[in-house]
Formats: sequence, structure tokens, C-alpha cells
Amino acid sequence: MAYKIAVIAGDGIGPEVIREGIKVLGVVAQKHNIGLDYEYFDWGGDRFLATGEVMPKNAIEILSGFDAIYLGAVGHPDVKPGIIEHQLLLGLRFGLDQYINLRPVKLYPNVDTPLKDKGPADIDYIVVRENTEDMYVGTGGFTHKGQANEVATQVAIYTRFGVERCVRYAYDLAMTRPRKQLTLVDKSNVLTYGHDLWQRVFKEVGEEYPQVKQAHAYVDACCMWMVKNPEWFDVIVTTNMFGDIITDLGAMTQGGMGIAASGNINPKGVSMFEPIHGSAPKYTGKNVINPLATINAGGMMLDVLGEKAAGQDVENAIIKALETGKIPHLGAGAIPTDACGDLVASLI
Ligand code: IPM
Ligand code: MN
Repeated sequence: MAYKIAVIAGDGIGPEVIREGIKVLGVVAQKHNIGLDYEYFDWGGDRFLATGEVMPKNAIEILSGFDAIYLGAVGHPDVKPGIIEHQLLLGLRFGLDQYINLRPVKLYPNVDTPLKDKGPADIDYIVVRENTEDMYVGTGGFTHKGQANEVATQVAIYTRFGVERCVRYAYDLAMTRPRKQLTLVDKSNVLTYGHDLWQRVFKEVGEEYPQVKQAHAYVDACCMWMVKNPEWFDVIVTTNMFGDIITDLGAMTQGGMGIAASGNINPKGVSMFEPIHGSAPKYTGKNVINPLATINAGGMMLDVLGEKAAGQDVENAIIKALETGKIPHLGAGAIPTDACGDLVASLI
């Protein structure tokens, strides 16, 4: 099979980590006889500063012609926070209807976790974060802005359609895993309308999946369990906002931003794969940033494209690279960016 991949390397260290990801993908693609045709797009902060536009107006139309998108990182110190995030990240997630944000929390061997007495056998779950609704939709506004009686609203929107397709995806995913356990994370004790809908949909859809063991945690308790008993989780399904927050916590427990990958998935459309970390502007061009998260995202991309064996090879090579001990930690400067890519590529 040959796939058309749109590459948005982005800002800061984005191009460096993407280069290593593409290096590894090249080796695995050759091994499995997969064609990967890349087209690069210079979208992001630099383009915004030069042209006033983060990406072209017909970006969604352009990307619709691809099989997947491989994204490095966006965010620029000279651009006011929010602009690039809204236009590019949220613009693409919403515009391409990538309604799932898939975020594995998996501790690999030889990686330090801040959780005392926990090892790879204890930290291996995956968060299914709804990716198109909730407070992220931008519904709300100000009245009397700047005055003492100012009112600001930011509305959390949940639709039955949106909740149901996300929950269904999570059940399907749980079915593919040995433990087959799905935990709904919400705040239904307080958000008695929106999260009541989540509760009902979770139970209704669950009737179609009798083999999946259902569980529930309030989001605050979930944070506690993620630290105290992460082995308790297999698949978590949750809202956009809570999923955003708990996956940063999850990433820290799996060794940090150097390893955490994420997929923005439209199961019937164009999906986008990225490291969870940002553009780390101060390290730009220094060849010190760990590319493992981006390489990991590349493996997820192959997996979601249906190239399961190739995706697994990427993950296995990352594990082998960590087992060599040549990557003493996952932070900046542990190993040169290009040497890390070379090491993983050599282990495919
Ligand atoms: C993430 C990021 C984004 C989000 C921001 C940058 C819009 O934090 O991918 O988790 O909130 O989804
Ligand atoms: Mn986030």
C-alpha cells in the first residue's frame, strides 16, 4: 500500500523531531513494503508572522486529499498564545472531524516514573478523549466586558451524537485489549446535565458489549488513582476538557513529554498524529530534544492506517532503544536528537 502523508513540522523543535520520525518511518516502511509519500506544509507560527495567516483558508480541503497528517509541534514565542492553537490544532481537529484523541499512557522499560514502586506492568492504559465538543467548541461570550459587573460564559456542549460515537469507539478499543475494561471518567455528581448524558450513553452502548467490564471514576478521584493505582486502568473514556488535563498527568507518570504520543482520529477520515509536547522554542536547532514521542506518534499513525505489524515494529524499536541504556533519561540533552533517531531506526 502507498499512503499520502501531509507533514506539518511546525515551529521550534517541531522540524527536528519530525525529521527523526520520518527517518524511522522510512526504515519500517521499506521493511514492510509500504509506500509513504510526504508533502510538507510550512504552517504555524513563522508563517503567521510572515503572512498574517497560520495556514491557508482552504487548509481542510487540502488535507482532505491525504491519508494522514504527521504534526511536529506548533507554538511560537512571538505569537500571542491561543492563535496558533485555535487556528491550527483545534481548526484541524474540528475541520477534519477528528472526534477521538487517543493517548496511550504506557511506561516502557528503563524509563523513570515519579510513581514510587510502579513499573511497566502497572502503567499501561489508554485514554480515549472526546475531541470535538465540551468547552472547546467556543460557545460563550462576554457582557459588560471590562466593567465591574462583567459576565463571562464558556459553555460545555455535549451532543448525544458526539458522546455516543466517542463511547462506541472506546468500547470497540476495549474489546481489542486483553483485560477488556472501560472506565468512564466524568463529574456526574456535579455536572448533572452534561455528564448525566455521558452516564446514560455509556450504559446504553455498553449493553452491546457484554464482554467489556464497565467501571466509573469521578475525574478528581481518577487523578488520585492514576498516581496511586494506575494498574487499575485499561481503557479510559472521557470528555475533551478532562481528557486534556488527565493526559498531562498520565504523560508525567510514563516518563514525561519525551515519550507521550497522541492521535487525533477520524476513523473514516483523515487522522493526525503528534507528540503531546509543544515546540520548546528555547531548544530550537540545538539537536537536544528527545524525538521518541514523535517517533511513537509515527508508529500510531501506521497502526491506525491499518499497518499493524509496522506500527508494532516502531514501538518495539523504541523499547529496544530504551533497553540499550543509551538514553539515560527522556529530557532535553539526554542524547542528541539525530543520534536517538539513528538508534531507533537501527533497531527496526
Ligand atoms: C493538547 C493541547 C491542546 C488542547 C491545546 C494546545 C489547544 O493542550 O493537545 O492537549 O487543549 O487540546
Ligand atoms: Mn493538553
